[in-house]
Amino acid sequence: MDYKLAVIKGDGIGPEVVDAALEILDAVGEKFGHKFEYTEVMAGGAAYDKFGTPLPAETMEVCLKSDAVILGAVGGLKWDNLPGNERPEAALLGLRKGLGLFANIRPAILFEALKDSCPLKPEIIGDGLDICVVRELTGGIYFGERGFKDTDMGKAAYDIEIYSEKEVERIAKVAFEMAMKRGKKLMSVDKANILESSRLWRRVVQEVAKDYPEVELSHMYVDNAAMQLVRDPKQFDVIVTSNMFGDILSDEASMITGSIGMLPSASLGDNNKGMYEPIHGSAPDIAGQEKANPIATVMSMAMMLKYSFGLIEESDCIESAVTKTLNAGNRTGDIAKPGEKVLTTSEMTEAIKAYI
Ligand code: IPM
Ligand code: MG
Repeated sequence: MDYKLAVIKGDGIGPEVVDAALEILDAVGEKFGHKFEYTEVMAGGAAYDKFGTPLPAETMEVCLKSDAVILGAVGGLKWDNLPGNERPEAALLGLRKGLGLFANIRPAILFEALKDSCPLKPEIIGDGLDICVVRELTGGIYFGERGFKDTDMGKAAYDIEIYSEKEVERIAKVAFEMAMKRGKKLMSVDKANILESSRLWRRVVQEVAKDYPEVELSHMYVDNAAMQLVRDPKQFDVIVTSNMFGDILSDEASMITGSIGMLPSASLGDNNKGMYEPIHGSAPDIAGQEKANPIATVMSMAMMLKYSFGLIEESDCIESAVTKTLNAGNRTGDIAKPGEKVLTTSEMTEAIKAYI
């Protein structure tokens, strides 16, 4: 089969990790007889520098016409003082909204070989960790009305958290379906003791639950969830939560699995089209130095093959190549123990490719 992919390398370490991922994808294509056609388009800071906008219309058009989108990372110090709608991050939000990608799947798995990189005590992690965060991606405070107003305390700024029943219902369904394929346990995280939007969220999740009697549903306040993730992460199977809480909790979940450099993500909508990116940022401090860990982006390719194209064997092939690479002791700086040999981004990529 032929697949048309839009490729956005982005800023900072984005280009390095995307190049690595495409190399692995090509190796998989060669092995299984698929052709991946790439159209490179720009978004983020790099696009702003060239076109004066972080999300050029052409980028959106190409992404809409592609079978899936691969993205590195966007953002950097250089663009931090731009107004909100011109910042690199605005491109990411525009892509998510424009492509209708309301469900963000962020699996946090602790590889056996990386148990020592986990900052938690061995008795807490036991035989490993496998948590899946399902984050709502096109609603909530990220997309609610925002602005300024004058008050007697001076100028004030506001961002509104708003969720509709339909928005909660569709993300809840994705989460219940995910739970059915896994351990049949779903934790919905909210702040229903304070927020009206959370109380609506909880009510709708409870309604959707009636269609999934096999799934054990619980609810937790977000502050407690942040604490429970480090106290007893093994109690979690699938977590479903809002855009903002999901942003925060997925970073926390990633770190307890060793390094933020390891976690892939898939952003999905109603059809099979998806956007695949590492959950880490552009890490400008190490950009262009061959220090970045390409695994999060490589694993995002495995998610793409599975979720967008239904290529399960091909997807498994990437996951097992990464596992074997780690088992063989290959490490980038973020996951190396003191004294261990540190591979460059390209060396790590070659090591993974050898197992494809
Ligand atoms: C993420 C990132 C983005 C977000 C930023 C870069 C806009 O942190 O994907 O988690 O907040 O969604
Ligand atoms: Mg984030």
